[in-house]
Amino acid sequence: MIIPSIPTRGRTLDYAAPVYDLLEPLCLLNKQAEYDDTLIKTLDPQPSDTILDLGCGTGLLCRKISQLLNPDKGGCVTGIDAAGKMIAAAREKRGSRHCRFEAMAAEHLVFPDVSFDAVISSLFYHHVPLDLKQQSLQEAFRVLKPGGKLIIADMHIPTTFLGALVSHASRWLFLQPQIGENIRGVLPELMVNAGFLPPQTVAHYFGYITLFSTTKPL
Ligand SMILES: C[S@@+](CC[C@H](N)C(=O)[O-])C[C@H]1O[C@@H](n2cnc3c(N)ncnc32)[C@H](O)[C@@H]1O
Repeated sequence: MIIPSIPTRGRTLDYAAPVYDLLEPLCLLNKQAEYDDTLIKTLDPQPSDTILDLGCGTGLLCRKISQLLNPDKGGCVTGIDAAGKMIAAAREKRGSRHCRFEAMAAEHLVFPDVSFDAVISSLFYHHVPLDLKQQSLQEAFRVLKPGGKLIIADMHIPTTFLGALVSHASRWLFLQPQIGENIRGVLPELMVNAGFLPPQTVAHYFGYITLFSTTKPL
């Protein structure tokens, strides 16, 4: 199935779609299951929840979330990614009635206002420049219901020497200034600018990833 990619200034990963499921466990030092479990525990999905995953890649996290939802009660997770090949792989490997995938840019969501109970995102924000980070957080705010949760795990200010080494090396190796913005610590302020409550830091991973949790005020 060919799904066209969506134009964006974000760094999309069409080229990596065929091997992404092999590469990601390496980036997460083989602790992907533990990492995903903490994200999902923080999300705490209820069976009838509607959940949006920004920059979903091949949809592994979406599938795990979908196993906790009840489609007969309206529960559904939707993963979006601007890379058409990621969405094609996600649909093929992990799509179901209540685990859906759409090619879409996180900075231009085509969902109605207040249509999701929660928004989650893993390792997406270091792929987009500062203005698109802000725009996609505003979009997350718009589509969330009041009181809805926003859970973000991404590169942030490094917490260990090794984490700093990995962060700075990847910023220069991949020529990715968007990573530089993350490691300067911009994400919490951007969340607050978008209207969210000041985020809580839930956990740190590998010295370079931080898990944040916040909500859209009632
Ligand atoms: C490192 S991957 C993370 C995938 C998945 N969330 C995970 O944790 O494995 C980042 C993803 O963001 C996508 N992406 C980049 N820019 C985007 C944009 N503007 N809107 C939506 N997705 C985008 C890429 O195509 C890629 O699949």
